[in-house]
Amino acid sequence: MLSDFITIHDLSTYEFNEILDLAQKMKEKPHKFRTHLQGKILAMIFQKPSLRTRVTFEVGMLQLGGEAIYLAPADIQLGTRETPYDVAKNLERWVDGIMARTFAHSIVVELAEAARIPVVNALTDLLHPCQAMADFLTLKEKKGDLARLKLAYVGDGNNVCHSLMLAGAKAGTHIAVATPKGYEPKEEIVKQAQADGRESGFSLEITHDPVAAVKEADAVYTDVWASMGQEHEKEQRAKIFAPFQVNQELMAQAKPGALFMHCLPAHRGEEVTSEVIDSPQSVVFDQAENRLHVQKAILSLLMSQKKSV
Ligand code: CP
Ligand code: NVA
Repeated sequence: MLSDFITIHDLSTYEFNEILDLAQKMKEKPHKFRTHLQGKILAMIFQKPSLRTRVTFEVGMLQLGGEAIYLAPADIQLGTRETPYDVAKNLERWVDGIMARTFAHSIVVELAEAARIPVVNALTDLLHPCQAMADFLTLKEKKGDLARLKLAYVGDGNNVCHSLMLAGAKAGTHIAVATPKGYEPKEEIVKQAQADGRESGFSLEITHDPVAAVKEADAVYTDVWASMGQEHEKEQRAKIFAPFQVNQELMAQAKPGALFMHCLPAHRGEEVTSEVIDSPQSVVFDQAENRLHVQKAILSLLMSQKKSV
């Protein structure tokens, strides 16, 4: 049984589907789960800003009968004021679970190794697994059988791209990634996705041609060109990524009725035009809503049992 939620790579296919199925049930009948985590407390550690993650984890805990404590970047100063190990060893004495959004991925891994309570990855420089689970729930709701779909990701081979590839591997989805040269997804994650997807029917195409990537795609996904922590590269990246903007011309190359997806926050006029993100094809707010449902499923699965250590 799952004891932390750090990367989709760690999930069995059964666990991947279990999260999506439970999220769907919780979305349909939220009242049935009102006392699922009664008396439980989640500590939420943030090294970076957030709207969706902070609100959906906090609301999720409240809807399940529990509570959440927000720890802002300046409160803990993870890694400078105190080591991740010591933070975990303190928190486990007071609360029932930890959610962490960090820069280095190794910090979330260290927290999970040290803590006797479950740890949930709420975005690191390497991965954003809660986002990808919400995105695959959205895809399933809108387009059906995930194994028959093609998802095109256009832009930076970043944390969001990595987790989408790993989710695609579990679901058997065809993923095409188009990035500028030098901004491809990390080889380590490509290898994990290929290994995980060996039996699911998954395939992965990595290209530098956005038109080739979106061809026959059921959904076109993009994310900011400069992620949190890369603000100093913003101007240089804006020039390099300009040919990778998702606009109506590019959307017209995908399947008719293809969805537009984005994890948000979005920069209209940069990675996506207003026309596309505000079009009927856009499902960005459904994705944001589904963060709540998948995270409630993840929290319930992790926090209603004892962590096996
Ligand atoms: N998509 C997402 O994680 O949004 P926040 O950074 O606002 O949490
Ligand atoms: N790639 C983005 C995702 C934000 C939700 C970042 O890391 O800033």
